Amino acid sequence: ATAQIGVTGLAVMGSNIARNFARHGYTVALHNRSVAKTDALLAEHGTDGEFVRTETIEEFVGALEKPRRVLIMVKAGEATDAVIEELAAVMEPGDIIIDGGNALYTDTIRREAAMAARGLNFVGAGISGGEEGALNGPAIMPGGPKESYESLGPLLESISAKVDGVPCCTHIGPDGSGHFVKMVHNGIEYADMQLIGEAYHLLRDALGASAGEIAEVFTQWNSGELESYLVEITAQVLAQVDAKTGEPLVDVIVDAAEQKGTGRWTVKSALDLGIPVTGIAEAVFARALSGSRAQRKAAHGLAAGTLAEKPSDAVQFTEDIRRALYASKIVAYAQGFDQIAAGSTEYNWGLRPGDLATIWRGGCIIRARFLDRIKDAYEADPLLQSLILAPYFRAAIEESVDSWRRVVSTAVQLGIPVPAFASSLAYYDALRAERLPAALTQGQRDFFGAHTYERVDAEGHYHTLWSGDRSEVRTD
Ligand code: 6PG
Repeated sequence: ATAQIGVTGLAVMGSNIARNFARHGYTVALHNRSVAKTDALLAEHGTDGEFVRTETIEEFVGALEKPRRVLIMVKAGEATDAVIEELAAVMEPGDIIIDGGNALYTDTIRREAAMAARGLNFVGAGISGGEEGALNGPAIMPGGPKESYESLGPLLESISAKVDGVPCCTHIGPDGSGHFVKMVHNGIEYADMQLIGEAYHLLRDALGASAGEIAEVFTQWNSGELESYLVEITAQVLAQVDAKTGEPLVDVIVDAAEQKGTGRWTVKSALDLGIPVTGIAEAVFARALSGSRAQRKAAHGLAAGTLAEKPSDAVQFTEDIRRALYASKIVAYAQGFDQIAAGSTEYNWGLRPGDLATIWRGGCIIRARFLDRIKDAYEADPLLQSLILAPYFRAAIEESVDSWRRVVSTAVQLGIPVPAFASSLAYYDALRAERLPAALTQGQRDFFGAHTYERVDAEGHYHTLWSGDRSEVRTD
């Protein structure tokens, strides 16, 4: 047994992670259901480092030093269960199985418990950064038993991205917490992408800018507080010219966004936890709407109304959009961090939001300059009520709020859909409101269902005898 780590599932992500380990000096045992993929990897990249070629699961497990560490990189769902079962049958107590796919965190909770009962350590690890990140340094979010991190942590940290010398990998918490956090990361990714999309839509349709011009705008934005991987690649996608037609590539791509499920999971979980992740939810719904091609075709041509007045000052409006994007992005992250806090309470995970901000600074898809600020905010106050209350973010939003309102109202007048901008602003306004119409909701609930309400001036629950003499009774 010579290998420090084994990787099974050698599609692009698995291959690249295996190569990343090998490039860091680890001997990597390789396994894939069809050995052709293993051989292809060895033929193309065998010189990256030390690999052990294996064909059967027994051979694969036998190639590993103890405690054995196996990283599974197969499709989330049934395929993962099948591989876990095969591995568990030949592994021994104390060995570690790591699931590096985008597993649903509740599956990870279930799997961790089942493996623990058999004496095996199961680590659900969120891995972000796409193909490039997998090879050159992803962000890694491993959950599972803390003891397993002692043996596994140094390997994962060494292949992860680094920011200021700090690895973008840390032990997240017990059982499903790593995959939960990765799920919320993806939800934030959805919100971020939707917000960028809305900014692009406004620049294009409210200001009439070309794709190439908008690429320039994003390049410029990327040198300021919006600096991030997603803004950077947006500029590159917009600048790309289609070889076949000579048109901007973005104009020949079908405008129906797909999704593999992590954004949807985030929203479902947020609904269960009672956390308003409005930016993420709007992003998921916007993708769904874009994909309703038949409905959109049928509705095309419906009247927009006649209020349309284009912004007169393009420079000012571009700056307004930049600020609206920043403010809405802060809201999306604030909501995501609220969900993480709620998940942590629900499952007793003891998650540390500052740690997440730290490891998301590099490697992952949502890496951004302002994560440094989020890290600072949680360092200054680990019990922060909401990210938007941290002094830096509060000031950033207050400086942007007029721009934000101008952008949303202009978009509404022009008939340009900005669901994420608008819902983020509505969230901000609701959160800061002294009184909300929820008081009326409570009155209505009490009227039709005797659901009771609380009073602002006294303890307890009350009910008005709506169908009687309308006097009030205390119900507890
Ligand atoms: C990452 C990404 C990745 C995700 C893709 C596609 O962190 O590297 O989040 O895990 O699978 O972004 O997601 P959708 O197909 O749902 O857009």
